[in-house]
Parts: sequence; structure tokens; C-alpha cells
Amino acid sequence: MNNHDIDIVKAGIGHAKLLAWIDEAVKLCKPDSVHWCDGSQEEYDRLCAEMVEAGTLIRLNPDKRPDSFLARSDPDDVARVEDRTFICSPTEAEAGPNNNWVAPAEMKQTLTGLFDGCMRGRVMYVCPFSMGPLGSPIAHIGVQVTDSAYAAANMRIMTRMGDAVLDVLGDEGDFVPCMHSVGAPLAPGEADTPWPCSETKYIVHFPEDRTIWSYGSGYGGNALMGKKCFALRIASAMARDEGWMAEHMLILGLESPEGEKTYVAAAFPSACGKTNLAMMIPPEGFDGWKVTTVGDDIAWIKPGKDGRLYAINPEAGYFGVAPGTSMASNPNAMRMLRRNCIFTNVALTDDGDVWWEGMDGEPPAHVIDWRGEDWTPDCGRSAAHPNARFTAPASECPSLDPDWEAPQGVPIGAFIFGGRLSKTFPLVYQSFDWSHGVYLAATMGSEATAAAVGQAAIRRDPMAMLPFCGYNMAEYWAHWLAMESRVPEAPPIFRVNWFRKDADGKFIWPGFGENMRVIKWIVDRVRGHAGALTSPFGLMPRHEDIEWTGLDFPREAFLDLTAIDRAEGLAEAEDQKAHFAQFDSHLPKALEQQREGLIERLNHAPEMWRAEE
Ligand code: OXD
Ligand code: MN
Repeated sequence: MNNHDIDIVKAGIGHAKLLAWIDEAVKLCKPDSVHWCDGSQEEYDRLCAEMVEAGTLIRLNPDKRPDSFLARSDPDDVARVEDRTFICSPTEAEAGPNNNWVAPAEMKQTLTGLFDGCMRGRVMYVCPFSMGPLGSPIAHIGVQVTDSAYAAANMRIMTRMGDAVLDVLGDEGDFVPCMHSVGAPLAPGEADTPWPCSETKYIVHFPEDRTIWSYGSGYGGNALMGKKCFALRIASAMARDEGWMAEHMLILGLESPEGEKTYVAAAFPSACGKTNLAMMIPPEGFDGWKVTTVGDDIAWIKPGKDGRLYAINPEAGYFGVAPGTSMASNPNAMRMLRRNCIFTNVALTDDGDVWWEGMDGEPPAHVIDWRGEDWTPDCGRSAAHPNARFTAPASECPSLDPDWEAPQGVPIGAFIFGGRLSKTFPLVYQSFDWSHGVYLAATMGSEATAAAVGQAAIRRDPMAMLPFCGYNMAEYWAHWLAMESRVPEAPPIFRVNWFRKDADGKFIWPGFGENMRVIKWIVDRVRGHAGALTSPFGLMPRHEDIEWTGLDFPREAFLDLTAIDRAEGLAEAEDQKAHFAQFDSHLPKALEQQREGLIERLNHAPEMWRAEE
């Protein structure tokens, strides 16, 4: 079909800017046809059926996993590509040392070259989507064009997508244009592959124009552009300009037996069990407590009229890591995955179900692995890719909070920041004030996994935003510091660490559902119900401040878990120097002052501080 013959005018759309942009995209990408996604179930079913036909999806056994599919990606397209991710702000300093930068004009030229004809032989899907409940004052709209049916189907799960979004957009509403191509045009008659993609990959953000271009990958955050590209990188820059916050945070609801409801928002670097915490089931001893999920990955947070911060989860589904998910680690997720899911790069069992490492029970005697090859437990390879994923609609989550779609959001009672740290850092502590809390978040991170034993260096991941902050991280810290003056009721800030180890290298804390004990202390602090001791790091619970019913955790172990070794603390403060130095004159003074304050407190502390009066 001749490109000019494509009718891009969707009946009823009067949004001239949107139509002009689609027209431009069609002229550049030269698809065979254009399909406007209406977001209906019929359309999703048809897209999935077509992908089954094309070999992109495998329909799972309907008796075992109804309405669910397995996709296997190209082995070279299995994760977000941070080294191919760019923030093209007008100057390099605006992007900051935390981002790859290329001058916008130069990058636009490169992209225009790559996108020219990139959709030949393919359908261009137009996916209008809302990040956040339709019409919520905190929500924003994007439109993704993509030549990947897989991306379109996943976007339907992960966002509110389709005609209803166009209604909200009206004739003049703002939207973020998101251009996506797998970068694999087809010559006439050329057969397609199950997972088309390109060796050349670019994930590019123009914060100034609020536009995104993604080329060459069909996987996850590279291709589902509402998530990291829009809801974090572009939105963080929008939030800075407009006085709100776009954060890499789960949102959890906690209701006490007395019916008091508190929401907390929490940020952790990857591999800290964020989805598990977001869907936590309270342990023994917490009868009458309800824990509910608003979101597992992203929070958009705005000051409300009452002086508090309100958060929405901009997403409508979960794109979670499958390996390690089990009835032991996350029963709510396992129940959520019973139907209506797309699995990517997990293993296929002989009876047409899915399997991954860490699932409950014995490994099956035989599966087809994520590459499509025979696998047996002794073959020495993993059956699922370590970054294998599920895409699941939020509506299937058993712990979904009744207010998860409240347009005004839910009030945030506390911020929690964590990392995976085997030493130095206690189980939990509260910041002395807002600035101190921003400092605790700005210096967080996890131990680099491959580090030599005993030398585990901390890979800093401030606010868990290092790969996702769409501008200079130091300016982002300044924005965080400035939020205090916008929010009279700024929530208290906490640091947690579930991963401290004893002298034998064993985890001291049981984690998972037992984390509820720590979260309850945090809620009690928010409500003014719980005491705390002043430590050099921050305010800390005593043993008696924690609810222990149902868990045998000796006081001595608690004291080990919360001890602060002065020498380790000072080494940590010293290590933070290099982290801050990267940002030179952009670094807010308040953060260096906090670092000096920590050194000062440690110098006056005993060699080993313990949570005893
Ligand atoms: C994610 C991530 O996939 O943070 O959510 O990497
Ligand atoms: Mn994430």
C-alpha cells in the first residue's frame, strides 16, 4: 500500500495536534497500515490470537492458566538498556552525571534516520493511554505509536488504554508523544521472526519537548513507554517544573484493627523485593490488620489542599520479575497470576503451564526453557531468564486497595527508603527531619553483588531513581528539599534494611511478611503511638517498641540488628564523599551539611551504639 493512502483520520478525533503528529509518524515510519487501539477486550483477544498465529505468543493450557500467554524474547533483548538510554536536555549539565546525554538536534537527526521506513511491512498501532485514573487531576496522557503488537497488548494491561483516553484528551488536551519501533522493517515477502528487534537500540527522552523515542527493543521498560520512560524520566522533569513528585515507589495501605488507615510510599533499588512488600500478608500476631496494594513500582505525588501529600499509582498493572515469586515469598502475586497474564521469558512446562526458579515445590523433571530449548534440573542452565517477567492487570491482585483508583490519590503518611546492605545499616531508623530524610534517601543503595567478599561497595541508587531521573540528580535533590516548604504536613522519612548479616554471613532478619513488624512501628510513629531512641543515624525503635507476638526474635538479636559500629559509620560517611563529589557545584549544601552532621554525631557516639537506654 502506498503510504499516502493510509487513512490516519480516526472518525471522531478532532485533536489537530495529535492527528498532525500521527501523520508525521506515518510519513516517517512508512508502516503498511495504521490501527488505532480502542482498548477493548475484543481487540486484546484478537491481538493475542494474531501473535499466537505469528509465533510471538504461546497460549498456555486454559485449564491451568486461563487466558494467559508466554512470549520468548530474542536472547539479546531481555532487559532495559541503561547504556542506550539518553536524556537529551538542551545542555549536558541539565541531564547531569547520572544520565547519558547527546545534544537534542544531533539526536533528532540520528533518530530521524533510524525511524525512516522502520515500520515497512508492519502495522503501526496507535495507543492512547492515561497514566493514572482517567480524568484524575494527578493523571497525564500519552500516545504511543508502536509496530509491536506485543507492546500494544502489554500497554493495555499496564495502562488505561484506548478510546476512553481520547475522550478525556478532547480536542486540545496535552499528551506526551511516544514513538516506538522494534527497528526491524520487512521487505516485501520477507518472513517475520517471533521477536523482531534490532542490534541498534536507543531509548531517548527530550524533557524540553516532553517527547520520547524508543528504537530497537521490544522488551519491558524499553517498549512499554508509559512506565519508566514517561512515568519516571519525563514525569520527573514535569514534576520539577510543576511542583510535584514522580517517584520510583510502591504504595502500601495499612489498616489497624481499630480501622485507622495509613498509606506509606517506599523506594528500593532492584532486587530488594519491592513487589513482595507491595503485596505483603501480615504475619502471625497481626490479627485484624489489613495490608492493601495501591502500586508496586511508581508513585505520582502532589500536595493536596489540606497540606498533605497525595499519591496515585499511574499504572494499571504489574510488570514484575517472575523468578523468586512463590507462595512463600508472595502469595498474593501467585494468586494474581492465575489468569489473564502475559509471561515473558519464563519456562514452559510439559502440561502447558509456566515455571521459574524459586517457584514452590520441586523443579519439574523437564521444561522448555526461555530460549525454547529442552531443560532438565541437572542441565546447568536456568530455565527462566533471571529478568523474566509477568504482565498482570491490577484488577487481579487480591490485595488491591479499594481506593487504588481514587482520582485525588491517597494521603502519604511516611516515605520509606531501603537497600540491600549486609552491614553497617540497622533494620530501621527515622530521619530527624525532612532534610535529614532527603540525605538518607540521596545516599541509599545496595551492595554491588559481584564485589569481593568483605569489600562490598555500595552502589548508590538515590531514591532508587538513578536510572530513572530525567534531569540532574543534584537538582532533583534540591527539588526534594524544596518540597518541604510546599507541604506543611510533610511525611516523616524512614530508612530500612532487611538484609543485614551476622558474623556467619546469615541474614539476621527473617524478612517477607515479618517486615510488617517494622512497618507497624513506622505507622505507630506516624500516628504518634510509638517511642524511639536517638541514635547517631536517626531515631530508632527499642526492642519493646516492636510488636513481637508470633515471632521468636530474641532481644540480643534485635540489638545486633540495630547496632551502629562507629568505625563502619565513619567509613560510610567517607564513602559518601565521592558520591556527592560527582555533582560538584550542583550539590545542595544541605546534603553536605547532613554528611558532616553524621560524622559529628558518630564522633560523640560509643564505639558500638546499641538500642538500649
Ligand atoms: C523495574 C525496575 O523493572 O525497576 O521495575 O527495573
Ligand atoms: Mn521499578
